[in-house]
Amino acid sequence: MNIPWSEWGEEINEELIKIRRAFHQYPELGYEERKTAERIAVLLKELGLEVETNVAKTGVVALLRGKEPGKTIAIRADMDALPLQEESKKSYRSKVEGKMHACGHDAHITYGIGAAKLLKKYQSHIKGNVKFIFQPAEESVGGAKPMIEEGVLENPKVDAILGGHVWPDTPSGSIEVLNGPVMASTGQIYLEIHGKGGHAARPHENIDPIMIAQEILQRLQTLTSRRIDPLESLVISICSFQSGETYNVMPEKAVLKGTFRTLNNKLRVEIPGKIENIVENITKHYGAAYTLEVTHLYPATINHEGFTDFAKASAEELLGKENVIQGNKPSMAGEDFAFYLEKVPGTFLRIGNYNAEKNLIFNLHNPHFDIDEAQIGRVAALYAKIAMDFLNR
Ligand code: NI
Repeated sequence: MNIPWSEWGEEINEELIKIRRAFHQYPELGYEERKTAERIAVLLKELGLEVETNVAKTGVVALLRGKEPGKTIAIRADMDALPLQEESKKSYRSKVEGKMHACGHDAHITYGIGAAKLLKKYQSHIKGNVKFIFQPAEESVGGAKPMIEEGVLENPKVDAILGGHVWPDTPSGSIEVLNGPVMASTGQIYLEIHGKGGHAARPHENIDPIMIAQEILQRLQTLTSRRIDPLESLVISICSFQSGETYNVMPEKAVLKGTFRTLNNKLRVEIPGKIENIVENITKHYGAAYTLEVTHLYPATINHEGFTDFAKASAEELLGKENVIQGNKPSMAGEDFAFYLEKVPGTFLRIGNYNAEKNLIFNLHNPHFDIDEAQIGRVAALYAKIAMDFLNR
């Protein structure tokens, strides 16, 4: 059947703007999304969906069953905000001191709800199911993994998953798709160098942790320049270096903290060992001891080629070929959508948000960040269309 998705998208836009603003005004941080989850659950129950709450603490999962049995596609949105003071005079700015939806997750929620509303209209024409996953804590410790562990990809088993993120570099009105890596893995480095303190005038009697730490800091950069294939992407950033108190006392200890990121999940696994190797060698040379914790957070987000091509074709039908961009530049930021893509095929779309005329020029996590509200209905229609195309093809 021929569904007028574009018209539906436009028709629903005003209603979705109101919904989005309500979320925007009351941002909640990771695993505190109680009111957000409650509001989502109410809206989806009104539609007659089967709604489950408190999944992985604050997550919400809703199921729309089509008329006939078939495959299941999931649409995922993250719900959490950031500890950031919004700098805006807009009427719908955050009403919570020091918290803000500065990463567009309020929009992501609304796309999901909008898609549910549109798909509900065609429930009797759907072959299979659509599962809506609203997950907590993308910005902090990650809600995707616990959601998966609690079984969101089962009962009914999810065959494909769709997610997206508002994207400041992509023109508003466009969608950008990438095959393969789209977001980097994330990991943390915590290093303590245990030296030997003493008088600054007698360095030979001490073990200087600052000297050792700076040497390690520099040597770590040779991992990216000399130890891995230059065609691979690896970022190591040491963002905290703490040691010492005063002018003439050599301290006992230095602490480094940082992050490492890559687009290659195989390489990711090798990095902690390579880091330890450097730390071990340099500390040994100086006779120092160390404590090193290298922690993996999110894997790299790798879009599946088959589903991505399919979603692209579906998007081109709705938005026109000129508004669907084949991207080729992944981001070194992380995203826990990666965990779903390790289990099922799917794709993570970039939803264009750049519009200089509307002053939508700010990056994610910026206190001036806002989304293009004129596009909400269109994106909801896009999600709905991709879901229905997948189920009914
Ligand atoms: Ni985000």
